[in-house]
Amino acid sequence: MAPVPPVSSAHLEEMDKDGDLLRYAMDSYIADKKSGTGNANIIFTLKEKPGALAETLRIFQDHSVNLVHIESRPSKRYAGSYEILVECAEDAEQKQLEAVIELFKKKGENVLVHDRDANSKIEDSVPWFPTRISDIDQFANRVLSYGSELDSDHPGFTDQVYRERRKEFADIAFNYKHGEKIPRVEYTPAEVATWRVIYEQLVHLYPTHACKEFNYIFPLLQQNCGYNADNIPQLQDVSDFLKDCTGFTLRPVAGLLSSRDFLAGLAFRVFHSTQYIRHGSVPDYTPEPDVCHELLGHVPLFADPDFAQFSQEFGLASLGASDEMILKLATLYWFTVEFGLCMQDGNRKAFGAGLLSSFGELQYCLSDKPEVLPFDPTVTSVQEYPITEFQPTYFLADSFASAKAKLASWAASIPRPFQVRYNSYTQRVEILDKASSVQRLARDIRSDLSTLEVAIGKLAVNEK
Ligand SMILES: [Fe+2]
Repeated sequence: MAPVPPVSSAHLEEMDKDGDLLRYAMDSYIADKKSGTGNANIIFTLKEKPGALAETLRIFQDHSVNLVHIESRPSKRYAGSYEILVECAEDAEQKQLEAVIELFKKKGENVLVHDRDANSKIEDSVPWFPTRISDIDQFANRVLSYGSELDSDHPGFTDQVYRERRKEFADIAFNYKHGEKIPRVEYTPAEVATWRVIYEQLVHLYPTHACKEFNYIFPLLQQNCGYNADNIPQLQDVSDFLKDCTGFTLRPVAGLLSSRDFLAGLAFRVFHSTQYIRHGSVPDYTPEPDVCHELLGHVPLFADPDFAQFSQEFGLASLGASDEMILKLATLYWFTVEFGLCMQDGNRKAFGAGLLSSFGELQYCLSDKPEVLPFDPTVTSVQEYPITEFQPTYFLADSFASAKAKLASWAASIPRPFQVRYNSYTQRVEILDKASSVQRLARDIRSDLSTLEVAIGKLAVNEK
C-alpha cells in the first residue's frame, strides 16, 4: 500500500503544480479505505453538462455513502471538464465505496475515475503510515490485547474488582480521539497505596542512579504535575507539561500496540500511555506497562529536548519501513528508551524507562553483574533479549545527542525510496519525494540559517 500525502482543499492547488493531484487523490482513497477507518477521498473528472454533478452524487446516495465535503474546480487537464473532490463520511463501508467506484468506471466518458500515475516515485510495497497527527485515531485502538482481558498468570487474573477497573480504563482509551482532553481518573485508595510503595522506593535511588537530565526534570514534575507519594498524577496534566517543554503529548491506550503503530506515534511526538495501575498484590512486578512505568520511567525524559528528538527519530524512521526494519527499530528502542544506560562524569547512569520504574533492576543495571556494551545501532539492533527477567546485556550511550546522531545515521541506511520530515506547524509528516517538497525544506532551512546568523551577530555585539 502506498503512503498517503494529505489531500485537503488547501493542498489541491499546490499538488496540481506537479500534476500529482489525481495520483495522490487515488492513493488517499486506497489507503484510507484499506486502513478500515477514516474519511475516504475520491477525486474524479466530470464533463461539463447540466445535471451531471447531481446525477453523479446520486450514486453515493444510492449506496448509502454520506459525503462530508464536496469541492469542484475547472480541470486544467481536460478542457470543458471539472475536477470534483468528494470526501466520504468516516462510517462509509468499504464494500459500498468499492461499488461506487465500479459504477464510476462503468459510466464511461461522462465520469472518469483516475488511477494512480504509473510514474509514482513511491513504491506500492511501502506499508501505509499516518501523515497527519489525527491519523493516529485510525490505529490507536488496534491493541494486541484488550486491557481487561488478563492472562491466567497475571496477578489480577482472579480479582473481579481489578478486572472491572481495567475495563473502565480500557473504555477511556477506546473512546479517546485526537485533540480531546484525557479524562481525569479518581484513583482508589488501594491504587494510590500501590503507587506509594513504588514511588517511595524509587525516589531514593534516582539521585545516584538516574541520569542528570532525569534528575533535573523530576522536581519540576513534583512542582507542576502533582508527582508525590500520595497522588497518582493525571495524564492530561502531564501531557500539558510535556507539550510546554518539548511538544510531546500523551495519549491513553488500552493495551499493547504493535511496534509499527507504537513507533508511528513517536513520529508526531505522541506517546501512547497506559492509565491503569498494576495489581496491588505485587507492587514490584508488572507483566505489562502500567501508569507507574509510564509516569516514573518514561515521562521525565520526554521533557528533555535531546531525548525528545532522539525518541521522535525512532518514529520517523519507522514510517513506511519494512517489517524487518521495524523489528530492528523496536530492538533499538528496547535497548535505549526502555533499558538504556549512558556515561556521565565518568559514571554509568540509567535513562531507560524500564530501569527507572523498577527498584530491583535500577540497582542491578549499575552493578558489575550485567554485560555492558557501547551503543552501536548496527550491533544493538540485532541483539536478542528476554522480556520477563533482568537484562543480561545493556548498551551504553555517550549522550542523548550522540545516540540520536548514531540512530539517524543508521536510519539513513533504511531501504526506503523517500525521506520524511515532521512539520510541527501543521503537525504533518511531509514526504520529501518531489522537487517541490525538497525545495520547500531548503527554503525553511535558509530561513532558520538566517535567524541563526542574526542571533550570532547579536551575541557578538553583546559580548563586546
Ligand atoms: Fe515502556
